[in-house]
Amino acid sequence: MVTNNRGVSPAGPARIYAHIVGWGMAVPDQIMTNDDLALLVDTTDEWITQRTGIKQRRIAGETETTATLGLKAARRALDVADIMPETIDMVVVATSTPDHIFPSTASLIQAGLAANRAGAFDLSAACSGWVYAVQMAAQAIQSGAIKTAVVIGAETMSRVLDWQDRGTCILFGDGAGAVVLQGSPNPGGVLSAVLRSDGTGGDVLGIPSVGTIDYVGDDVGLPELNGHKFSKMHMNGGETFKFATRVIGESVTQALEMANLTIRDVKLIIPHQANLRIINAAARSLKVDEGLFMCNLDKYGNTSAASIPIALVEAVEQGRLKQGDPVVFVGFGGGLTWASMVVRWGAPMPEAGAFKKQRRALTYSWARFRSRFARWTRQFNQTVNRVRPEQGRIERLRHRIDRKLP
Ligand code: ACO
Repeated sequence: MVTNNRGVSPAGPARIYAHIVGWGMAVPDQIMTNDDLALLVDTTDEWITQRTGIKQRRIAGETETTATLGLKAARRALDVADIMPETIDMVVVATSTPDHIFPSTASLIQAGLAANRAGAFDLSAACSGWVYAVQMAAQAIQSGAIKTAVVIGAETMSRVLDWQDRGTCILFGDGAGAVVLQGSPNPGGVLSAVLRSDGTGGDVLGIPSVGTIDYVGDDVGLPELNGHKFSKMHMNGGETFKFATRVIGESVTQALEMANLTIRDVKLIIPHQANLRIINAAARSLKVDEGLFMCNLDKYGNTSAASIPIALVEAVEQGRLKQGDPVVFVGFGGGLTWASMVVRWGAPMPEAGAFKKQRRALTYSWARFRSRFARWTRQFNQTVNRVRPEQGRIERLRHRIDRKLP
């Protein structure tokens, strides 16, 4: 699917642009270094560093999930945007590691935010997922259908890794990044996007899960499981590498053309953080300096759908983006899928208000209480309903005994 957002106009005469007005990230505290990994599988810090650029990654603690990390990142993004949760129309979570098949991780986060007017859904496009999700939200905003969306990329890859497979477990980490997208008459924001898929490469990397059977379907089946473990990630690293280096240059160039820009206009490229060698190859294919690419995979490894928004947050914190700068996001991964997007950075920032911050904190406490109360009430009613028929039976027995009926 190729879409050019510059041509989209809302129902009214004024065009609406979808701007990123808030951003936030959350990673677990627990750090796993390459040396820690060398205690688990036959590998070394030197091999991992040279072949990938990764030095360490974050691993979720026992009580951390994709939803808890995503919620933290989203709340931080709301703080930056300084908006109240009730103004959110849509919550989208790009993830390959949802806490449940359903409820969606987005619904859990929607409840935690107390975004009571919002629709919520998860989006599955592996490491390209966050760019896909931003485009879905941006188009809804540009069409005038909604005003504000929270788009999150969140993963707990550590829960789907085969910790005996040194070809995959060294690459991934856990984390979440989020942005708030908002409609504005000021030109800029999301300018163009190229979203692509090639399902013939569905066997290159994946996670066999609920519903996977060891059967080759007629039209859409994958090759048989080939010994891959259920709920554990498998990957053909070499094929993924070749695919990634091919599609990054192509799709970035296409997205720039659609935005009437060239690579020389771009101030920063934020790629999916998979492997430093892939990023360097992409720089060569686009004939640009490697410094044009934001890179933080040494600290977090590959956090799949979360990697681009996490890198975006760190780029903003490092002052690498200024108002009006064209920035490019490019993701690639399982599916196979890939996606490039051009954004003109910077909508007028709201004044951060302490009062709203306190109101948000109160709203979150209320949301926590409301969820617990709702669950407690349902449990209570179930227990009462279980007891009631029993009481009825005993009443009837007593009645019969009183009337000396058989
Ligand atoms: N430590 C030490 N040796 C290793 C390790 C390891 N962790 N892993 C593999 N090796 C060995 C192999 O067994 C092989 O040994 P051999 O020559 O004796 O057979 C040798 O190292 C070379 O193996 P390759 O697989 O050819 O290594 P390569 O240089 O291709 O690097 C890697 C492997 C890092 C996985 C690389 O292919 C890669 O990064 N691919 C892209 C992965 C990626 O980006 N995935 C994410 C996509 S996004 C998503 O949707 C999830």
